[in-house]
Amino acid sequence: MKKSAEITVRKISRESGEWRTRYEAFYSDCEIKRVDKLDHAYFAAYAADEIAGHSVVYLENERWVMDGLRVKPEFRERGIAKKLTEARIRYAIERGAKEIWYACDDGNLVTICCHLRYGFEKVCPHEGHCTAATAHWYRLKVAPALFKKFPALKPGRA
Ligand SMILES: CC(C)(COP(=O)(O)OP(=O)(O)OC[C@H]1O[C@@H](n2cnc3c(N)ncnc32)[C@H](O)[C@@H]1OP(=O)(O)O)[C@@H](O)C(=O)NCCC(=O)NCCS
Repeated sequence: MKKSAEITVRKISRESGEWRTRYEAFYSDCEIKRVDKLDHAYFAAYAADEIAGHSVVYLENERWVMDGLRVKPEFRERGIAKKLTEARIRYAIERGAKEIWYACDDGNLVTICCHLRYGFEKVCPHEGHCTAATAHWYRLKVAPALFKKFPALKPGRA
């Protein structure tokens, strides 16, 4: 049943109490940064009325950052994370982002699946000393090559 449900990805337009309750439940077993006071946008993937995946992009210290990407186990490997990532990249670009950032552990599936493919590159602080144990920042430079490979990310495209 769930496998065949049509998935739609939408920006959360009204961060209502009802949405907030579902959001808290969705991330109940992991920590997610509170971004309410920052310029931000949440994107959710819905299967009918059920939240199948959720994510956020926010602006902090002049940096657009993607976070909180999660897809419910029963909806995985159907391209939902990619759709949520592309929606957030497009949103940031439409808001003028020249770079988009993401922090993640080495080897994390989130990075492998959803960031490297778009051209995110690891940025090691402290003159390039990254260890496998720590979370690292990845940066995507918004450049013509991105739009050549992913035309749908171009601002103004549906
Ligand atoms: C990582 C995660 C977001 C991927 O979601 P998803 O919707 O299944 O991913 P997609 O179907 O969009 O991604 C597909 C790509 O990721 C890769 N991928 C996804 N799942 C994979 C798996 N189990 N093994 C290997 N590669 C995988 C593939 O490369 C695939 O690309 P392709 O189909 O073009 O080859 C999901 O597994 C997840 O939510 N994991 C838990 C993350 C979490 O809980 N984080 C804490 C947040 S607080």
